[in-house]
Amino acid sequence: MRWGVWVLLVSLGVTGCEAQVSTKEMGVRDFPSPAADLGVLAQRLKGMQAQWPKRKIPINCAKTKCVALTFDDGPGEYTANLLDLLKKRNVRSTFFVVGQMVAEDRDGNLRRMVEDGHELGNHSWSHAQLTALSSSGIKAELARTQAIVKDRTGVTMQVMRPPYGSTDGRVAAESRREGLAQILWNVDTLDWRDRYASVVARRAAAATPGSIVLLHDIHRSTVAAVPSLISSFSRRGYTFVTVSELYGKRPAPGRKYTER
Ligand code: NI
Repeated sequence: MRWGVWVLLVSLGVTGCEAQVSTKEMGVRDFPSPAADLGVLAQRLKGMQAQWPKRKIPINCAKTKCVALTFDDGPGEYTANLLDLLKKRNVRSTFFVVGQMVAEDRDGNLRRMVEDGHELGNHSWSHAQLTALSSSGIKAELARTQAIVKDRTGVTMQVMRPPYGSTDGRVAAESRREGLAQILWNVDTLDWRDRYASVVARRAAAATPGSIVLLHDIHRSTVAAVPSLISSFSRRGYTFVTVSELYGKRPAPGRKYTER
């Protein structure tokens, strides 16, 4: 009889405890703690102070064989996989992101790019052909993408790539006003057209020291080409750099670059 009462009391006590814990948990979910807000703020401040992690030994591409891999049009569904591959091989690259894609990104790819030492570049808001727009239209395409990337990562981008490589004096002028250098390329893998990893890797291998290689992280075949592409460059003694590292200083806003 006594045992029965004891068991009953303990059960009630435990149940009471569980009820309390779950109420508390619900409270935490409903109202984010000030500590969580401070964490977000600290992340943003960190992003503002240092754009991306510096190398222990700075690269001098005047003396070292450098190649700049660039990935356009994302972030997309294969970007997280690509970031894993690049991190595993300690490779830095540049991502020319589309504002609309950044707005849809739910995987935290942008923050990861910055944390892993990649450079971010502006590839317009809607992948518009900028030469077909008015000056105010060009400005809006660039400014909106600058704003969302700044909001997500704290980074102010310093380079842009005009969609389709389509540029003129007005695109140059608006890029200069936004503080953006125009980065084109000298090795085109045509990976958007030929969706074969082996073809993409072979075309990328045509790069010479100081090359900028055009790739797109929105294609599965391109991401599949990356491991052999990295091996091929590594065997030949190349260092993988971001476009700003390729020039060893901030590329001049408005100016057009295709290789070192
Ligand atoms: Ni593009």
